[in-house]
Amino acid sequence: MKTAPEKTTKGNDRAVTAFDASQLGSWEQDVASLAGMLVHEVKNPLSTLNISSQLILEEMGPADTPKEQRTLRRLEMMQSEIQRIEKIISSFLQLTKPQKMSRDSIDVSRLVEEVISRNREVIELDGVSVLFQPGSVSSVTGDAAMLHQAILNLIINGCSAMPNGGELLVRVMETRYRGSPAVVIEVTDTGVGITEEAIPRIFRPYVSTTEGGTGLGLPTTLRFVRLHGGTILVESEPEQGSRFSIILPAEESES
Ligand SMILES: Nc1ncnc2c1ncn2[C@@H]1O[C@H](COP(=O)(O)OP(=O)(O)OP(=O)(O)O)[C@@H](O)[C@H]1O
Ligand SMILES: [Mg+2]
Repeated sequence: MKTAPEKTTKGNDRAVTAFDASQLGSWEQDVASLAGMLVHEVKNPLSTLNISSQLILEEMGPADTPKEQRTLRRLEMMQSEIQRIEKIISSFLQLTKPQKMSRDSIDVSRLVEEVISRNREVIELDGVSVLFQPGSVSSVTGDAAMLHQAILNLIINGCSAMPNGGELLVRVMETRYRGSPAVVIEVTDTGVGITEEAIPRIFRPYVSTTEGGTGLGLPTTLRFVRLHGGTILVESEPEQGSRFSIILPAEESES
């Protein structure tokens, strides 16, 4: 509730303004929206740069002389850096922009199966095999695109944690959360694991040990899960592996 500054008149007729700073909004929100605007402004020129460098590369044809080969290498480097900035920017927007959330009924096992089948090539790139155990029918209310992204982020993290290959187990089960029926989506890897001290840090933006990673995957995942009234649990042991569990309140049954 906004309250106007209070004016009081002391004995000598001077107006004294009393102001309680707690009624101000948090400046962090202003910074976040300014940063969001900045990122929006940068996005368009960046995609022009990306397209232009792509066209130059296509028009260049084969590089025969050493000079042409140098130019080609530099152009390719420019393009990969541009694409990296584009990734940083779109992840940043995903983390900070206010989200319009749909409230659909989502069959969780079906959604997880779709995430895996649509991304199987990327997931199984480095000798990782995925084992999926669907649960009995359990639905949640929410936004399928957000949950799709959240599940995919955990799966990709699990794969990155196993650079020499391994097994990724994805399970959907019924559970209880805060005394109510809930659905858990568990992603278990046999990868490098995370130390006890590092676990709270990995949910902060820009914390990353992955090559080419932005460090925005987990903060975005946690944000999306929280928007659904859920949470994420982490269990991990260095050199043994990690288990990330997304817990979502189950859809209320109509009775
Ligand atoms: N399953 C996992 N096993 C081991 N470490 C993990 C796992 N998941 C996350 N981490 C650690 O947490 C860090 C942050 O993860 P996060 O998903 O936020 O960023 P990222 O994967 O590095 O980059 P990206 O923005 O591409 O997702 C990772 O760099 C890694 O150090
Ligand atoms: Mg990630």
